[in-house]
Amino acid sequence: MKFRNINIISIVAACIILIIGLAAALMAFNNPAKAFNENNSRNNTILASLSEFHTLGNFVDGHDGLACRECHKYSDGSIRQQIQALAKNALFDAGYQVDFAFRKVSSSECLKCHERNNDRHPIYRFNEPRFIEVVKILPANKCLGCHSEHNAKTVNLDSLGFCASCHSELFLKNDPLDISHAEIIKTNDWNSCLGCHDFHGNHKFKSPSLYDESVSVQAIKDYFDGGKSPYGTSKISEGLKK
Ligand code: HEC
Ligand code: HEC
Ligand code: HEC
Ligand code: HEC
Ligand code: HEC
Repeated sequence: MKFRNINIISIVAACIILIIGLAAALMAFNNPAKAFNENNSRNNTILASLSEFHTLGNFVDGHDGLACRECHKYSDGSIRQQIQALAKNALFDAGYQVDFAFRKVSSSECLKCHERNNDRHPIYRFNEPRFIEVVKILPANKCLGCHSEHNAKTVNLDSLGFCASCHSELFLKNDPLDISHAEIIKTNDWNSCLGCHDFHGNHKFKSPSLYDESVSVQAIKDYFDGGKSPYGTSKISEGLKK
């Protein structure tokens, strides 16, 4: 009986020592305060070494020369979360540590440079309950719902006609178009919308009233794929350069 108790105590003690040891090792290996530092070379080393393992594509136009850390922030989760992440990566994703040291890139990183009060489709709007079903199909409440990085694409959507998710009931009282919005929608010509409207409303671009004057579908596709903007180069607000 006595013997057994000692056994349990020593097992518990051994466990505690092991956990403390692990935590200490982890903290030494990856001290958040130390690691998250503007000039931190360790973060950059990890990113640089990762870039050798992953074939990173070109940046989005305008992002050339941005520091990796502008988007990849050190993950400051608790030690427990980090151990979990470490274990998860070790088990399922050997050799792949991004989750451990870095958190997923989120809209807040993008907004630090791209916050603009002229956005006609600001992401926060789409957290409203009436968009719950829509955002399941089209995550319009996140920048990365439509954009991506490292694949040179400006917009990462296959379809141009995604306006249909929200504008199927559109009706204009005094429609200025030669072919009215109502007719366009009746014929499901959703690919035409981007021919006359950019999405964010950030280009200094006047929507034409004549259907034949709209931007071609091919020009919009090329723009999505990293080509130049068919709405011109003049913008109301530009991303901050850092
Ligand atoms: C403008 C923002 C931005 C910049 C700058 C940036 N990245 Fe990324 N990176 C992303 C996004 C978005 C992803 C997609 C995965 C995610 O959401 O975390 C990604 C993914 C990655 C991945 C794959 C990891 C994963 O979770 O899929 C690696 C590796 C990576 N980036 C390395 C780099 C390196 C190295 C640099 C600097 C040369 C860099 N990144 C600069 C936004 C950026
Ligand atoms: C450190 C600042 C910075 C961060 C962070 C940043 N951007 Fe940018 N981005 C810029 C700048 C500067 C430009 C070029 C000027 C412009 O087009 O507004 C640009 C351009 C772009 C363009 C292409 C513009 C074009 O016409 O080809 C897209 C799309 C874009 N950013 C999306 C994003 C997304 C999505 C994120 C988050 C993953 C992000 N950016 C994070 C600064 C930033
Ligand atoms: C529902 C899809 C969608 C979401 C969500 C989205 N975008 Fe876009 N974005 C587009 C499309 C489509 C274009 C191309 C048409 C245009 O230029 O407006 C674009 C173009 C851009 C451009 C280049 C033109 C410009 O406005 O300067 C930037 C920069 C950009 N997006 C940044 C962002 C950022 C930052 C977020 C998150 C705050 C975001 N986008 C969210 C679809 C989206
Ligand atoms: C996720 C939902 C959603 C998607 C997708 C969407 N919109 Fe909108 N759009 C809205 C909402 C909400 C408004 C604001 C309407 C209001 O305030 O009554 C709006 C407003 C607009 C406006 C008027 C802006 C102004 O200044 O009054 C235009 C033009 C527009 N959208 C075009 C488009 C086009 C073109 C597409 C596709 C490329 C698109 N929208 C995709 C939800 C969406
Ligand atoms: C031939 C060009 C053209 C096409 C195609 C077109 N629009 Fe328009 N749209 C206009 C013009 C011009 C206006 C008038 C207001 C303006 O100048 O922005 C307008 C107005 C709007 C408005 C109201 C904006 C406001 O200020 O109240 C919305 C929303 C809109 N369009 C969405 C769409 C959607 C969604 C599609 C695709 C089904 C579409 N448009 C297709 C040219 C076009």
